[in-house]
Amino acid sequence: MSASSRQMHLNAFVLYCPAPVTRLSWVYPKDKVRHQWWEMGYWEEIATTLERGSFDALFFADNMGGYGSDADSIKFGMHFPLLDPAMLVPRLAAKTEYLGFVVTMSTTFVAPYHLARSMQTLDHVTEGRIGWNIVTSTNPHEGDNLDIELPAHDERYERAHEYMEVVYALWDSFEPDAMVMDHDNRIMTNPDKVHRIDFKGKWHASAGPLSVMPGPQGRPVLAQAGASEAGVSFAAKHAEMVFAPAGSDQQRREMVADLRTRASDQGRNPYDLKIMFTHGPIVADSTAEAAALQEEILGRPGYDADIAALRPPAGFDLSDLDPQTQLSEILPRVTGMRGPFEKAVEDDDPTLAEFASRFRNLAADSRFVGTPSDVADEFEALQDATDCDGFQFAPTYYPPDCYATIVDHLVPELQRRGRVRRGYTGPTLRENLLG
Ligand SMILES: Cc1cc2nc3c(=O)[nH]c(=O)nc-3n(C[C@H](O)[C@H](O)[C@H](O)COP(=O)(O)O)c2cc1C
Repeated sequence: MSASSRQMHLNAFVLYCPAPVTRLSWVYPKDKVRHQWWEMGYWEEIATTLERGSFDALFFADNMGGYGSDADSIKFGMHFPLLDPAMLVPRLAAKTEYLGFVVTMSTTFVAPYHLARSMQTLDHVTEGRIGWNIVTSTNPHEGDNLDIELPAHDERYERAHEYMEVVYALWDSFEPDAMVMDHDNRIMTNPDKVHRIDFKGKWHASAGPLSVMPGPQGRPVLAQAGASEAGVSFAAKHAEMVFAPAGSDQQRREMVADLRTRASDQGRNPYDLKIMFTHGPIVADSTAEAAALQEEILGRPGYDADIAALRPPAGFDLSDLDPQTQLSEILPRVTGMRGPFEKAVEDDDPTLAEFASRFRNLAADSRFVGTPSDVADEFEALQDATDCDGFQFAPTYYPPDCYATIVDHLVPELQRRGRVRRGYTGPTLRENLLG
């Protein structure tokens, strides 16, 4: 199937925090702020807006601690405060009918039984609209908060594969027709259809059965964002939704093709893997207005905020380094998310200052700036060039307004072109994503 005959799936990328992606995006004209970021009205407005635009899901990235080991991150509001999105989702599900919700939980830090139970419960509470973003975690600070040492990168993925075996077994331990609610014979659940799993692996063990009956989707939609060799092969095996990393069109095309081939090798339909790129487009009525908005957004943080934001992905404090140091000299010390550092060294080996400023809009691409028609052209071209399945929009400024602009201006333009559906196809996230 060629990309041009397919519609785009749309997601929204946030964290339950003041500035999810674009640094200091919480700084916004006070008179335009209808709800503060911690108020329910803020999140409800985001969710209902996205549903108006037929988005598949609101995706919450997350971790255990934000950037809270660092005073500058606390000061600038960079992923700190950071609240638990799994607690917010039921409220948002009650305000919407079709929008899906993807929450992040770590295979390194959450026990498999706990995960299997929470996700299956959320599938009931959202009436079949929950997804799980599977992460193995990269930040040692999270481990410090939980008193769990972060294992080495590839071992995290080995553990994650075994983790999936446990959670699949737990989800399957309660057969779909086990709960009979037979009033006459006083049988709630048929014990013959609920099974212990007695799983004992190298890293994980669980007796089962899971105490939660299957939700409307049977199991949550599985999402993943690995970029490494281990991460990509994990996605090809398990993920239904993949958040692919940034890169040139050529790199992205190769990434998508590689993922589809690997999924095929696993016996899966390669198009059952919905591959999305994350973008923070800036849309306005005129090109000049969009350019001015971009200048304002990207001009807000300074070098001190730029460098503080690099600390978690780098895994160490870079503030004492000379801003003119070439990135290739720094790369050997990077222990966190190496991917973006490696790509930049490969591309043009920028100075630290230049690289840090590129991260201002973490959604990486500020290429897509302009009128709804200009930006729709860019997304169409990108889908055609890469064969991806859709896009994840990250808010570049006050999310209720940023998403309203996208939904009321960009989405209708994409709908007119037949690229985005009008309305939903079913009640569950999986039906809307894969149906
Ligand atoms: C769009 C996107 C969202 C991500 N969300 C999270 C997240 O919520 N929590 C987290 O710990 N890591 C998150 N990551 C990091 C990935 O899970 C993964 O660790 C990273 O892309 C590096 O890939 P690798 O683990 O294969 O080396 C995200 C990455 C991307 C591209």
